[in-house]
Amino acid sequence: MDDVQARHPNPVVVDAGSGNAYLGFIVYELFLKDAQAGELLSIEGRPELTERAKGRAERLHFDRMRFQTAHIDEAQYPERIHVLMALHACDTATDDALVAAIKHGADHVAVVPCCQAEVAAQLKEKKAKGPGSMSLLFQHPMHRREFGSHLTNVIRALTLESFGYQVTVTELTGWEHSLKNELILGRRVHRDNRRARLQLQALLAETGVQPRLTRLLGIMPAGTEGSGVQEGSAPEGSAAESESEGEAAPGAVPGTDEREA
Ligand SMILES: C[S@@+](CC[C@H](N)C(=O)[O-])C[C@H]1O[C@@H](n2cnc3c(N)ncnc32)[C@H](O)[C@@H]1O
Repeated sequence: MDDVQARHPNPVVVDAGSGNAYLGFIVYELFLKDAQAGELLSIEGRPELTERAKGRAERLHFDRMRFQTAHIDEAQYPERIHVLMALHACDTATDDALVAAIKHGADHVAVVPCCQAEVAAQLKEKKAKGPGSMSLLFQHPMHRREFGSHLTNVIRALTLESFGYQVTVTELTGWEHSLKNELILGRRVHRDNRRARLQLQALLAETGVQPRLTRLLGIMPAGTEGSGVQEGSAPEGSAAESESEGEAAPGAVPGTDEREA
């Protein structure tokens, strides 16, 4: 928030899957209230939660808090988002939040994913067929759930990197407070990162999963039609390994390579 407020007079903060908007109220209180600038948009699928939070904001005179009842992937976003956060947005709702961040050129992203089921289900399909000993990592339902969740978050972090974000993965709080404790932070520093994109495509090919995030962004596994990457191509140290330096372009369109822009 400090970085965004130093660079933008009127920052736009989006809280996706906001529930009762507690996080939004804290951010508004701590950063936006006294600054008398900037706005915070809470997006929540359940109308009763939106209405309750809206009433609370009116009572507190938090006039630059806005509320929208919508699914994260169908919401109306401001053209430019400076910070996007999503705290425990259920299952693939975190992926929808990340897509919105990438599409709207968010300078900063902070997500703490919730439980994840999608990739575990995809791994189940592959269980019997997987080559080598890789599939032993997810033979048992509990391992599949944990590994699926871990793989999902690795893919989320790599996807952010491939769109030029510098990513930090850390704990949100003490584990005694929440098991959903993985905080993925992204700060956009490049227009894109080709090396990360190749690593991501290789990972998708090796694991055989295709989560909602990469599907929505049109990122194909290495070696498939349209991926632009030969299977087995080594991302590390390859000629394609590069990052474009400099200020990232606001509002860059997913899937485009703007390194020269
Ligand atoms: C576990 S709660 C977290 C709420 C809040 N972020 C917090 O941490 O207090 C998840 C919230 O996301 C909302 N949600 C889940 N999927 C959503 C989607 N696709 N679009 C909009 N809201 C969604 C749910 O209705 C719920 O209120």
